[in-house]
Amino acid sequence: MSIIFDNEKKAFLLNTKTTSYIMHIFKDKYLMHVYWGEKMKLPNMLNAIPPRGVGFGANPDSNDKTYSLTAMRLEYPWSGGTDYRNTALDVTFCDGSHTTELRYEKYEIIKGKPALLGLPSTYTESDDEADTLFITLKDALMDLYVVLSYTVYTERDVITRSVKIINNGKNALTIDKVLSANVDFEADYRDYTLMRLHGSWARERHIEYQPLAHGIQKIESHRGASSHQANPFIAMVSKDATEDYGNVYAMNFVYSGNFEAGVEVCELGKPRMFMGLNGYEFAWELKSGDEFVAPEVVMVYSNEGLGKMSRTFHDLYRERLVRGKYRDEARPILVNNWEGTYFDFNEEKIVNIAKEAANLGIELMVLDDGWFGTRNDDTTSLGDWTPNYEKLPGGICGLAKKVNEVGLKFGLWFEPEMVSAVSNLYNEHPDWCIHVKDRNRSQCRHQHTLDLSRKDVQDYVISAINGVLDSANISYVKWDMNRHMTEPGSALLDAKNQKEMPHRYMLGLYRCMNEITKAHPDVLFESCSGGGGRFDPGILYYMPQTWTSDDTDAVERLYIQYGTSMAYPTSSMGAHVSAVPNHQVGRITSLKARGDVAMSGNFGYELDLTNLSAEEKEIVKNQVKTYKMLREFVPSSDMYRLIDPFKKDVCAWEFVSKDKTKVFAGYFRKMIIPNHPDERLKFKALDPDALYRDVERNTEWSGDELMNIGIITEYGNDFTTCTYILEKIS
Ligand code: DGJ
Repeated sequence: MSIIFDNEKKAFLLNTKTTSYIMHIFKDKYLMHVYWGEKMKLPNMLNAIPPRGVGFGANPDSNDKTYSLTAMRLEYPWSGGTDYRNTALDVTFCDGSHTTELRYEKYEIIKGKPALLGLPSTYTESDDEADTLFITLKDALMDLYVVLSYTVYTERDVITRSVKIINNGKNALTIDKVLSANVDFEADYRDYTLMRLHGSWARERHIEYQPLAHGIQKIESHRGASSHQANPFIAMVSKDATEDYGNVYAMNFVYSGNFEAGVEVCELGKPRMFMGLNGYEFAWELKSGDEFVAPEVVMVYSNEGLGKMSRTFHDLYRERLVRGKYRDEARPILVNNWEGTYFDFNEEKIVNIAKEAANLGIELMVLDDGWFGTRNDDTTSLGDWTPNYEKLPGGICGLAKKVNEVGLKFGLWFEPEMVSAVSNLYNEHPDWCIHVKDRNRSQCRHQHTLDLSRKDVQDYVISAINGVLDSANISYVKWDMNRHMTEPGSALLDAKNQKEMPHRYMLGLYRCMNEITKAHPDVLFESCSGGGGRFDPGILYYMPQTWTSDDTDAVERLYIQYGTSMAYPTSSMGAHVSAVPNHQVGRITSLKARGDVAMSGNFGYELDLTNLSAEEKEIVKNQVKTYKMLREFVPSSDMYRLIDPFKKDVCAWEFVSKDKTKVFAGYFRKMIIPNHPDERLKFKALDPDALYRDVERNTEWSGDELMNIGIITEYGNDFTTCTYILEKIS
């Protein structure tokens, strides 16, 4: 068992492969956090949680003035009591009071990991992979139960947490805020920085460090999506940490909607790290006897820096978050017509691109936006999922057949969650979108968000999308989502339940994704939200890959893919070669550079292949050939970030197969520096005693030479890139 309860010490010990997490029941009442870090045995609890008071700290127990909760490390803090810091749970009871007191009640340990009803979560394939601890806390006055759950993966350095709130009281209550994880550290805040992945459309998941300071520093989204602006990932990183060294504590939310996460540094300089649903756009009525389950947080501790943290997330996500056939199967190389044609295409044009793609070895033709209703620009037709027969005389079925005939699979774009202001669906059901009665309905890209908190709307989406998927031989779906919520409200919810809409929307969205993906197990689903606006573990549970960004410029992608790799594996990132000048930033980079960068993700093209010169076609053929070799091992390899583009003029990363026999590394220059020194690329994690062959250059290197002396890289001009494919030969 990886979870132990010591009755004498009143302590829980949770052991992952190399880490431990410890809690203690203080004075038989309060659940305290003791430790999260390197693996250890249970300590002497006398010293681990000494009673602690502080000036102006109130005492919860009038008979014992030795401690105040605001000075101690609470495992799951509540509102209204003697802990003045950021709370994990805020509840309003029927009498208007919003004070709780959560006391330890009981625990249970089970083998395996139960699923979270209606929510995405990491999973196990056998009960031996993990154990789960449930700790029940109780507010005695109101008969409110809070069940904290901790799953410990025995062979991974992962603990997942979620929380269930049960109202056993006689009256309904309102949950105003419920976080899924809270950790009170004993560390000195001055030794840590907060790392987060901030961004914007076309500039997602840039790495940012913020020194910790007294008070709350947090990131959040209340846009109704995890968002481009703030990814639901944070890490507390020791100031001396590197890719290979130092302490890192990370949290990632398995959820795709509004969230908050951050660190509060208290008056004693101790950090409190937290993550969960965003309390601003949230309230949930819990009737007597009802339960509410908060989404999962994945927690990873690494004592070997950021690199080990990322590899732990990568392994977990590709093996025990992503599901279905494509979890383990190679992903097809695709061409998407979006940047090649935008809305200006017809059947002939798409078939011609597909023919060219077939000649080049590409395997899948994806038809993007504009195939339905009367959609010739972005002003109409979302929601009207019937083919535009003017553009596609044979409909989707006819086009798919023609694409199949030239030897390619066929894929299709949808934006299922939306309705255009100009559409039949909006005319017929104006109340089916998110809105507040009598208020202006703001548009974004001329569209409204369908109210997926409603079952009838979910049912429409499921049947409309399934209908198209069943009407033709469709092997791939791009599920897009291009606006954030405004005027959050639902026509069906009672006045007092309006704030439930954003979370109900997510539950509805997950139901739609579940039903549609389950009905089409052979289809590869790629999620997208104006690029990477919903790149989160919640969506990855339903769809194994996400379109990383609408920005396909080779240089911009270095930052985006490097930042994304902090939590998400390469097998989850869509990465395509597009035309130059780049449509987002106007930069001109070589076809080689664009290919070299894209090969570190799920590879494809996003341009009109019929416009390529003969010379370019040869390059593409070779890229396709190379990627077919790389996809045999890169998606399941260990990733090592070698040079950080946020700090240097170059960027480099490396993928090493688990058995260390195959390696793919990329070295990417941004701008050249005149009169530069030689630059070397030093590899990591190779077999030092082995001999490796560089398959492209036909040179041989020993593993220790590659790691300790390194290879002098080609310098070239601005945006020069080099890749290295190494095979162990002895
Ligand atoms: C936004 C996506 O990110 C693009 O790739 C493309 O599919 C457009 N939407 C189509 O409207």
